[in-house]
Amino acid sequence: MRVETLSVFPQMFEAPMSLSIIGRARKAGILDFIAHDLRDWTHDNHNTTDDEPYGGGAGQLMKVEPVFEALDDLLAQEPARVVFFTPVGVPFSQGLAAELAREQRLIMVCGRYEGFDERVYTRADLCVSLGDYILTGGELAAMVVTDAVCRLLPGALGDAQSPLDESFSTGLLEYPQYTRPATYRGLEVPDVLLSGNHRMIAEWRRKQSIIRTAQIRPDLLEQAELSEREWELVHSCLEGEK
Ligand code: ADE
Repeated sequence: MRVETLSVFPQMFEAPMSLSIIGRARKAGILDFIAHDLRDWTHDNHNTTDDEPYGGGAGQLMKVEPVFEALDDLLAQEPARVVFFTPVGVPFSQGLAAELAREQRLIMVCGRYEGFDERVYTRADLCVSLGDYILTGGELAAMVVTDAVCRLLPGALGDAQSPLDESFSTGLLEYPQYTRPATYRGLEVPDVLLSGNHRMIAEWRRKQSIIRTAQIRPDLLEQAELSEREWELVHSCLEGEK
């Protein structure tokens, strides 16, 4: 897959897009990444990408022309899904990451200042928000989304790691995990994990996932597929909280 970003700070992507799993995926040809500089599509001496809002108000807005011209050029090469980052977007989720991981090419448009001239969104296939807070720009959002998408691409994670068993893929939060030593400063690893009994370990993990989800993110349970016994466990957890 190819991910391209369009922003006034392409340098921001250098380290996050070169290290660890993303860096390896790029070297292995699994992910192709290009950070474009929006200023390459400006025509004045100052490479202006922002301007004052019509009607007044605080701050500057990203201008419409550089974004339109950049997208004209980039989309003339090959089709792509165009994603804008804005707090006024659909909330990002593991499900959306999986959907985006099926695309051949993504163009991620990142704003700065107080946002974009509204007309740029006529060029959007999708507007994504990372959450109910305001970032200083869309670059960090683009990195987060690229990271979550990249690790779902076939071959991006080593064989030993699986994206299937973790938080959100099952609709539940992930169960607690431990590694050596079995006791540290009086903190013990649960006996069942040392038992070698794989059926009991799987049951314990499922139960822990359900308990954690009920305690920390009960909203996720609306979508989760639970047995009658598991729902009883949820209700006893929630009653214990009262
Ligand atoms: N740009 C500024 N805040 C943002 C957010 N919460 N999500 C996506 N893009 C943003």
